[in-house]
Amino acid sequence: MSTLVIDQTKLEAFVARAFNDLSSAQGGVMVSLGSKLGLYKAMAGAGPISSRELAARAGCAERYVREWLNSQAAGGYVTYHAVSDTYELPPEHAMVLADEESPVYLPPAWEVNASLWFDEAKTLQAFRTGRGVAWAEHDGRMHCGVAAFYRNGYRGSLVPQWLPALDGVIAQLESGIAVADVGCGHGHSTILMAKAFPRSRFHGFDAHVASIEEARRNAEAAGVANRVTFEVARAVDYPDHQYGLICFFDCLHDLGDPVGAVRYVGQVLAPGGTVMLVEPFAHDRLEQNLSPSPVARLYYAGSTTICCPHAVSEGGSLVLGAQAGEARLAEVFRKAGFTHFRRAAETPFNLILEARR
Ligand SMILES: C[S@@+](CC[C@H](N)C(=O)[O-])C[C@H]1O[C@@H](n2cnc3c(N)ncnc32)[C@H](O)[C@@H]1O
Repeated sequence: MSTLVIDQTKLEAFVARAFNDLSSAQGGVMVSLGSKLGLYKAMAGAGPISSRELAARAGCAERYVREWLNSQAAGGYVTYHAVSDTYELPPEHAMVLADEESPVYLPPAWEVNASLWFDEAKTLQAFRTGRGVAWAEHDGRMHCGVAAFYRNGYRGSLVPQWLPALDGVIAQLESGIAVADVGCGHGHSTILMAKAFPRSRFHGFDAHVASIEEARRNAEAAGVANRVTFEVARAVDYPDHQYGLICFFDCLHDLGDPVGAVRYVGQVLAPGGTVMLVEPFAHDRLEQNLSPSPVARLYYAGSTTICCPHAVSEGGSLVLGAQAGEARLAEVFRKAGFTHFRRAAETPFNLILEARR
């Protein structure tokens, strides 16, 4: 019989790591509380502040605020000044925790984690039966969390970097073309483009009714409802406006039939038109994705609980997952009859791919 030999150093290192994850997960609950109660906003730019002052500013009970501040100090989110018994939110941390317009604003992402716990019974059932869980079956915090999380990245990159990386597309958008945003969710990407290119017309489509309703409200609030439409439609049956640009933001890998969706693009894309495919960043091979990267870990987890179950719920002829990588995505376009496919840009979070017929 072989004897199991436990390396004590390795054990201790892994316990420390796993415990750190546990601590971080509870830290996420603290982030959510701080964000929803306005505690981070009340601290932003305030300099060193006592728990009493912060409680007064945010309209909260001091004893709870003090304990929350201590958790924030223990996690390195705020600085504690022992001499004055005050707490300070550094400006860099305020960008991440308090400034909703910042491209690195993170609190909404914790809404996704909250929904994953809330929906755990559905995921367990999916594992045991092999059946799917559709996007619409998740708790609403998932839809809002994903939309708000991606919105900030799109704000910083879509118009200034990603669209200019596509061959000739800016000139077409400036002169006026029809644009489809397939799987548009809450419509943030559609609205950003509509604001930047007033001569073009934008059409957002999504299978999820509540998301389309939210997208319409967002377009009204942004003052672009005159040049943006949002309609409930699937990726294989939205109206044909002979689009000069068709975009898929973080949704092609969610589809049960991505090849069918790209074949449909072939019918409704104007001659000379471009497809912009924005997908989660991934290398082609699993081992390349495994270098210690919080991004791959996050995306594989989201893929396990959200993306794969949705694709399965749609029949799942090809369940790409959120870490498909460029080669597998190129193969989808090749099968659908596209001959041109290239990486136009990338960020630590996204691949931006360009396709033409
Ligand atoms: C991860 S979300 C991305 C939403 C949005 N593009 C964004 O970047 O915030 C995926 C979206 O794809 C939509 N979707 C999934 N399957 C679809 C289908 N077959 N046809 C159209 N939309 C679909 C979902 O309803 C969801 O809004």
